[in-house]
Amino acid sequence: MAFLPPWAGVLVYFFCVSLAGSDFSDLYPPLWLKSPGQFSDYRVENGKYIIDPWVYSERMGMYKILVNKTASYFENFVPDNEQNILWGLPLQNGWQFRTGRLADPRRRKDCGYESGDLLCISVDSWWADMNYFLCALPFLAAVDSGIMGISSDEVMLLPPPKDQTNFCLNVSSCQSSFPEIMSKWNAFYQHLQYPSSSFEDLLKYLWAAHASTLENAGKIFEDRLEYYSKPEADFGRNWCVAVEYLAASLFPTTLIITHEFQKGLPPRMLVNGDRAPFISDFTDFQNAVLLVLSFLPRLDNSSAHCLIAIS
Ligand SMILES: *[C@@H]1O[C@H](CO)[C@@H](O)[C@H](O)[C@H]1NC(C)=O
Ligand SMILES: *[C@@H]1O[C@H](CO)[C@@H](O)[C@H](O)[C@H]1NC(C)=O
Ligand SMILES: *[C@@H]1O[C@H](CO)[C@@H](O)[C@H](O)[C@H]1NC(C)=O
Repeated sequence: MAFLPPWAGVLVYFFCVSLAGSDFSDLYPPLWLKSPGQFSDYRVENGKYIIDPWVYSERMGMYKILVNKTASYFENFVPDNEQNILWGLPLQNGWQFRTGRLADPRRRKDCGYESGDLLCISVDSWWADMNYFLCALPFLAAVDSGIMGISSDEVMLLPPPKDQTNFCLNVSSCQSSFPEIMSKWNAFYQHLQYPSSSFEDLLKYLWAAHASTLENAGKIFEDRLEYYSKPEADFGRNWCVAVEYLAASLFPTTLIITHEFQKGLPPRMLVNGDRAPFISDFTDFQNAVLLVLSFLPRLDNSSAHCLIAIS
């Protein structure tokens, strides 16, 4: 799978050409400006910053600190931190929030709904659990790498209301539970600090860490997909495969490119009866992306590492 899908190159070119001169703040994920932007915005208990990653703004704040603390390593490329390749993570979390994917899929509580607690992130959401691993681990590995300006025992994440053993909460417990993923994120931060690393080198280490994270988390949370409509569950599975293609193509997850790419993602949860390319409230681009995704597992079913049961 070490090839660049031709469409990826074309899309990247198109985005770069069509987006010169945007106002960056329009591209930020929902509630970005209102989320915590430094450690001192969080609560302190017993000398530790306490972060509740099951509240959307607090989880987004972790990304905001991460993107901020890594900005200086990307300034060689372009000012304004637009080229920071960590933007892909908060933007995806923002898309999940905006499209209802962080809410309780069984609606047994009002977690994540406007009628209840909109900022609540449900531990029953497959998207939210997968994203936890793509937030907590990169964040804690960054702390461990020393680039966040605090020491490893100075931050603690709060557990979700249930299934707590699936989630590690601090640097030491993540290292002992998920040593392979943590060491891949650590490798990324190490290369980030080498002046000799090229943009492409960094993408390589970022995507290696990202893919390893999804592969491990996917196995833990596969059963959550049962809470969804068949089209949404299929989309989740296909998305996992698509991410492996994005990884193999070293898709540059900068602010602008990720934002443009997201215009092709479903703007709401999929429901029974949704069938690309015929979903009437989706754009042509969204229908096309969904259709292409549905073919990916058939192109290469050996690549579906983040899922067990794909056929
Ligand atoms: C990082 O955060 C600090 C404090 O909030 C702020 O002054 C600075 O401008 C931020 N840097 C970037 C690149 O966003
Ligand atoms: C990390 O979290 C675990 C529980 O998940 C706890 O037992 C341990 O004391 C914590 N370590 C630090 C350094 O806070
Ligand atoms: C997909 O997997 C099946 C068995 O799981 C195998 O028979 C088939 O050859 C695979 N197809 C491709 C394109 O790898």
